[in-house]
Amino acid sequence: MTPMPVERLSAAEASAEHARLGNEIAEHDKRYFRDDAPTISDADYDALRRRYEAIEAAFPELQTVDSLTRRVGSAPAEKFAKVRHSVPMLSLGNIFTDEEVVEFFARVRRFLGLGEASPLGVTAEPKIDGLSCSLRYERGRLVTAATRGDGFEGEDVTSNVRTIREVPARLHGSDVPAICEVRGEVYMGHADFAVLNEHQKDAGERLFANPRNAAAGSLRQLDPAVTRSRPLRFFAYAWGEMSALPAKTQMGMIEAFKRFGLPTNPLMVLCRSADEMLKHYRTIEAQRATLGYDIDGVVYKVDELALQNRLGFVSRSPRWATAHKFPAEKAATRLLDIEIQVGRTGAMTPVAKLEPVTVGGVVVANATLHNEDEIARKDIRIGDTVRVQRAGDVIPQVLGPVIELRLPGAKPYIFPQVCPACGSAAIREIDTKTGEADVVRRCTGALICPAQAMERLRHFVSRRAMDIDGLGEKQIQEFFAEGLIKTAADIFTLEERDRAAATKLKDRERHGETSVKNLFAAINARRRIALDRFVFALGIRHVGETNARRLARHFGSFEALRETARAAGEAASEARAELNNIEGIGDVVAEAVADFFAEEHNEEVLDRLLAQVTPQPLEAVASRSPVSGKTVVFTGSLEKMTRDEAKARAEQLGAKVAASVSKKTDFVVAGPGAGSKLDKARELGVRLLSEDEWLAMVAEK
Ligand code: IVH
Repeated sequence: MTPMPVERLSAAEASAEHARLGNEIAEHDKRYFRDDAPTISDADYDALRRRYEAIEAAFPELQTVDSLTRRVGSAPAEKFAKVRHSVPMLSLGNIFTDEEVVEFFARVRRFLGLGEASPLGVTAEPKIDGLSCSLRYERGRLVTAATRGDGFEGEDVTSNVRTIREVPARLHGSDVPAICEVRGEVYMGHADFAVLNEHQKDAGERLFANPRNAAAGSLRQLDPAVTRSRPLRFFAYAWGEMSALPAKTQMGMIEAFKRFGLPTNPLMVLCRSADEMLKHYRTIEAQRATLGYDIDGVVYKVDELALQNRLGFVSRSPRWATAHKFPAEKAATRLLDIEIQVGRTGAMTPVAKLEPVTVGGVVVANATLHNEDEIARKDIRIGDTVRVQRAGDVIPQVLGPVIELRLPGAKPYIFPQVCPACGSAAIREIDTKTGEADVVRRCTGALICPAQAMERLRHFVSRRAMDIDGLGEKQIQEFFAEGLIKTAADIFTLEERDRAAATKLKDRERHGETSVKNLFAAINARRRIALDRFVFALGIRHVGETNARRLARHFGSFEALRETARAAGEAASEARAELNNIEGIGDVVAEAVADFFAEEHNEEVLDRLLAQVTPQPLEAVASRSPVSGKTVVFTGSLEKMTRDEAKARAEQLGAKVAASVSKKTDFVVAGPGAGSKLDKARELGVRLLSEDEWLAMVAEK
C-alpha cells in the first residue's frame, strides 16, 4: 500500500502517524542497538525514518523535545548477566472494590478455618509504582542485586544498585541473618523526576513518560556512572531466601529491615478487620497526591508468617496477599479505526486504533474493544470521540462513545464475518448446553490461517512458555513471513537448515554473526524443557499455565499425557474420565485436550517437535515427601484444616488430589461422615488414613 502523500495529511492524521512511526522506530533502534537483533532491513528502516522526518518537516509543531530527530548517540550493545532467583519473585492478584476487600478477608478466614472469635491481622501499605528488585546480603554485605525478570530469572544490576544511596552496602544489627535476601521497589520521586526530565530536555535527550519508566531506564543502564547520576530510591517490603527469620510477623519483618538500616514505608499499619483495611486504603488514597512518589494502590498481607505459609500460593500469586488498586484513569480521544486481531485459537478481537492520548502519564494509541457484542451494545462507531480507561498494567479499554460529539454520517460498525487474515468464515460457536452463541467470533481456518499459525508460534516462544531469547515477536514474524519457520518444530531445525542454505542468516542484512550464534545457542538451550512449560507452550485451548501444571503433575511425562489424551476422544471413555478427574480440570478443558490430540496435524507437528525437544518431568516440589507423586482423595469432614488447605498442601508436596476414588488412588484421607468414597476405597483395597495420620505423613521434617 502506498502511504498518503505527506502534504495531504490532516493535522490529526499527521500527529497519529508521527506517534506511531516514533514508536516503531524506537522499537527498531532498541532491537538493533540493545538486543543486537534487528528485524527489518536497512532500506526499510531508512524509509520509516524518511517518512517520519518528512511529516515533521510539514508539521513542525510535532517536533517536540522527545522527537527521534533530536536524539543523538546509540544505546549500548552489551547485556546484563542473568541471575536465577533462589526463591521466585511472584506477583500479586488485583482487587478493585470494597466488596472484594471484604471477600479477601473472608476467604482467608475460610481457608484457614478460623472461627468467629479468632482474630486475624492483615497489614496494609502503599503499593509503590516502581520496579521490584531483590537484594542479596551475605553476612551483612550486599553481594547481588537483581531485577524481577520473569519471576524466576532476573538481570544482574548489582553495580547499579550499589550507586543508590538509600540501599546500604552493609546491614547493621546482631540479628542480621547470614543470608538475607531483601525485596522491595526501586522508584523515583516526583521532584527528582521533574529535575531529571529538565536535564534530559536541556541535553536534547528523550523525555521519560513517567517516574516508573525513568526508574526502570535508570536502573537498567549499562554504565553505573549514569545510574549514579539518577536519583533512585528504595523501599523494602518483602524477602526471598533467609537463613533465619528475624520475626514471626510481616510487621515484625519490616521493623527488622528498618533496624538493619533499610528504608521501609512509614504508611504500613496492622488491621484487624476488612473495615480497618478499607479505612487505611482511604487514608492512603487521600495522601496520594502529596506523597511525592507514585503509588497505584494498597497491598494487604496476612500478618502472621505461619498463616502465610499455610495459605501458600495459587499459580503466581500468594493467597495471603493482594493489591487493592486505585480506580483507573480516564481520557477522551478519537477512534480512528477498528482493527481485527486474530488469536492463536482463531478468536477475533477488535482493537481500537486511537488518536494518541495521555492517560495517567502514558500515551495510549491502542485499546481493546472486547468483542462484537460490546461494540454493538455501546454503539461505538469509527470516527467517534470515545472515553478510554487505563488501570495499572492492564490493557487500556474503550468505555464508550461521547454521543454528543458524534459526527454526522457516522455509521454503525459492522463486525466482519470472514477472517481478515485468511478469508475463512468466522463464526460464533453455539454452546450445546445453553444454546447461546459464544461472545467470541472465531476464524474457522484453523490450519490454513496464517494469523493463527503465527500466533501459535508467538505463544510457543513467549516468556512463560519456551522463552527463547532473541526470538521475539518481530523476529518470529519475519521468519514466518519468509517461510523459514512455519511450525514450532522448524525453530529447532533452523540451524541445521541454515548450514545447508545458500544465503546464510549471518550474511543477511542486519543479522550479525554474533546475533545468529546467540540465537542458535538460545534455541539449543531449550531442547530440554520443563514438562509444564512445554504443555503450556503447545497452546491447547483452555490450557493456561495452571492447567498445564496440573496435567504435567498428574501424568509426569509427556508420553503418558499423550497416550491418555489420544484415548480420550469419546466423552464416555475411561481416558476422558481420568482427565476429568484431575482436580481443577473440568469437562471443557478435558474435551479441549482430547480435541487437540485428535487433530492429525497437531500430532504430526508434535512428532517432529519431540524429535528435537525433550520435555523434562516436573520436578516434584518436595520430592522427599512420601506423598509426592501419589494420588489422594479427601472425604468426610476434616477437623484440623479446611478442605482447601488440605488440597493446597498436598499439591505443594507434589501429590495429585482427585475428586473420586479409583484403582489409581494411593490414599483416601477419611474424616467423620465419610460415605460412598470410603466404601469404594475399602472395596478397592486403597490405603485409608485418618486426618492425624495424614498430617504426620505431610509434616515437615
Ligand atoms: S509484595 C509475594 N508489597 O507490586 C508478593 N509488592 O503486583 C511480593 N509492589 O512485583 C510483593 N509495592 O513490584 C509488595 N508494598 C508492596 C509493593 C509491591 C509495589 C509491586 C512489586 C510486585 C508487584 C505485584
